Amino acid sequence: MLEAIKWNENKLQFKGKDFLQLSDFSTDEILYLLNEAIELKALQKAGKPHPFLSGKVLGMIFEKSSTRTRVSFEVGMLQLGGHAIFLSSKDIQLGRGESISDTAKVLSRYVDGIMIRTFSHDSVEELAEHATVPVINGLTDLHHPAQVLADLLTILEHKGKLAGLKLCYLGDGNNNMAHSLMEGAVKVGMDVSIASPPGYLPDGKITEKAIKTAKQTGCTIMITNDPIEAAKNADVIVTDVWTSMGQEEETSMRLQAFGEFQVNAELCKYAKDDFIFLHCLPAHREEEVTGEIIDGPHSVVFDEAENRLHAQKAILKLLLSK
Ligand code: CP
Ligand code: NVA
Repeated sequence: MLEAIKWNENKLQFKGKDFLQLSDFSTDEILYLLNEAIELKALQKAGKPHPFLSGKVLGMIFEKSSTRTRVSFEVGMLQLGGHAIFLSSKDIQLGRGESISDTAKVLSRYVDGIMIRTFSHDSVEELAEHATVPVINGLTDLHHPAQVLADLLTILEHKGKLAGLKLCYLGDGNNNMAHSLMEGAVKVGMDVSIASPPGYLPDGKITEKAIKTAKQTGCTIMITNDPIEAAKNADVIVTDVWTSMGQEEETSMRLQAFGEFQVNAELCKYAKDDFIFLHCLPAHREEEVTGEIIDGPHSVVFDEAENRLHAQKAILKLLLSK
C-alpha cells in the first residue's frame, strides 16, 4: 500500500453492488480501488497472468460512441480471464423500445455484470435497480466515474500524492467530467476550482453534496467565471470538450461562450511550474486546448487514457468477483 493512499480496512463496506457515481463511495473505498489498480497494472506490466474473473462475462451496452471505454473494458475483461460482449443499442431490442427494466432482468440471466454508456443518468439508475448483477456507469450526461478513477490514478502516479493538491477544471462545468472530477477529487482531499461561463456551472445538487464532502475531507471547492483565478497555483489542469455527445446542435453557441476558457500557454502561466495537464479525450485541438499544451511536456493524456484499463480492472475485479 502506498503511504499517500492509506485507507482504513474497517471502513471498506462497498454497500451497493454497482459503480454509478463516485459520491456512492467513501474516501477509503476510492483509495482501495486505486491501490488495486496499481497492483493490477504491475501484474500486467510484468506479464503475469491475473485471471481473477475467469469465466465471467460483462455485457456492454453503448448508446453513444466510444473508443477508450469500449476497448479498455473489453481488453480489461480479457486480461482478467473473462469475456466482454459489445451490445450496440442500435442492434439490441432496447433501441426498438424494449424497456430498461426488462433488458436488465434478461441480461442478468446471462452475464455477470453490465457496463452501460447512455444519455440520461436516470436510465443507468433504473437499469441498476432492476439488474441482479452489478451495473457499471461507462458515462452518462451527468457522470463519468470510471474515467475519473483513471484520472486520480494518473495524478497519483505523476505527483506521488492526491490530498493537498489543487485541481483546476476549465470549460463546461455542467458536464459529466466536471461533475465526476468534483466528486472524486474532494473525496481524496484535493482542492478543486472550476471555471465556466455563466449558464454552464456545475449542477447545484452535485455541487452541494461535494461541498459537504470537502468539509469532511478538509479541502475546498471554488466555482467561478474567472479562468485565471481558477488556474492560479494549480497542480493539475483539466479540460474537456465544449460540446458533449448529444449537444451537437449547440456547437456554435458553445464555441462562442467558451472562448476565454481555452487551456493555452498564457492561462497555464498561472498554474504551478510543474503542473500536469489532463483531458479524458477525444480532444479538439485549438478549441478547448491548444496543441502546444496537449502535445507539450506537461500533458499526461496518454498515460491517462491507458489508466482507463487499469482503473476499470480494479472496478471489475471488485464487483464481479463479489
Ligand atoms: N474518455 C472516454 O470516455 O473516451 P471514449 O468516448 O472514447 O470512450
Ligand atoms: N463530456 C464528454 C466526455 C467524452 C468522453 C462527452 O460526454 O461527450
